[in-house]
Amino acid sequence: MGTDHFSFEHQASCCHTKARAGIFHTPHGPVHTPRFMPVGTLANVKTITPSQLKDTGAQMVLSNTYHLHLQPGEDLVAEAGGLHKFMGWSGPMLTDSGGFQVFSLSKIRTISEEGVTFRSPRDGRVIYMPPEESIRIQNQLGADVIMAFDECPPYPAHREAVEAATQRTYRWLTRCIEAHQRNDQALFGIVQGGVHLDLRQAAAEQLVELDLPGYAIGGVSVGEPPELIEKIVQATTPLLPPDKPRYLMGVGTYREMAQAIAAGMDLFDCVIPTRLARHGAALVQGERWNLKNQKFRRDLTPLDSTCTCYTCKNFTRAYLCHLIHAHELLAYTLLSIHNITELIRFTQAIRKAILQNQFVAKFQQWLEPSTSSS
Ligand code: GUN
Ligand code: ZN
Repeated sequence: MGTDHFSFEHQASCCHTKARAGIFHTPHGPVHTPRFMPVGTLANVKTITPSQLKDTGAQMVLSNTYHLHLQPGEDLVAEAGGLHKFMGWSGPMLTDSGGFQVFSLSKIRTISEEGVTFRSPRDGRVIYMPPEESIRIQNQLGADVIMAFDECPPYPAHREAVEAATQRTYRWLTRCIEAHQRNDQALFGIVQGGVHLDLRQAAAEQLVELDLPGYAIGGVSVGEPPELIEKIVQATTPLLPPDKPRYLMGVGTYREMAQAIAAGMDLFDCVIPTRLARHGAALVQGERWNLKNQKFRRDLTPLDSTCTCYTCKNFTRAYLCHLIHAHELLAYTLLSIHNITELIRFTQAIRKAILQNQFVAKFQQWLEPSTSSS
């Protein structure tokens, strides 16, 4: 498997934790890690343009095989010249394999050793997706990083069921590697294993044998107590190779990211910033604010005076409150710009602190067990 288009450049390690700063080089440019990656499910980050997205500090952006296969179809995306050209994003991209989405979004599905069959929630047609099909679609979409087709067990689940899903995920991974056609795309493996640390460790050891260009931890943030995420990550990262990027899937809260970075993770994604925006909420220095609240009605100060985003530089809390009450679509754009910028700034600040050997001193607040939300 040719992966010369990709490398992970190690820049600094923290003395007190396993945190590291690095640069993940991809065919569409570098990703400075640790870093939060915004989600663009249907070949767009909801309500914002690629140029607004670039200004948030976003480097790598995610999209979804499951959604793009259902609409508009990978053929059209390939005909348009691939996902980057189709959506007007020239930076690094990653597609998730569809495994997780099939389990969380389609009600009618059957899973066998061969693959997954499900009914499209869009038009009711029956779709068969074996691992080979996920890889074929991802090869056509053309993102820089593609993900293995995995089985994410629910929480809670019996240990036997989690073990079976984890072993199937490994067998599917070997089929994904076999099916993968493009050496300008890096295929990442996904460690499953639920909350069982021994299953996680066995899965990680098996995956590492395959010498992949990157590794992800999946199957977290599926309903388990948040403290367990840190335990799972702490048990798994020491087994992952130090010279490859590590991606914690579906995690994008301050505390969980800081703790996972301390355990050695590099990349994160989550729909939180755009989803909160659509509910009229903003992430402000570690808190969630509901901008609809009447207390903001006459507040003519910026959302966050320490934030350098377009929204905070140009508009007031009162203006955002007004837009939300008037159901104006600009509200969602301005809040998405701020929320994405905020999470990227958080991971960038951690990155800078690691480079200056001040991670623990500056982020102690986020490394301790939670006392409140966020
Ligand atoms: N996104 C969040 N968690 C997961 C996971 O376990 N697998 C995949 N493929 N995507 C995810
Ligand atoms: Zn801002």
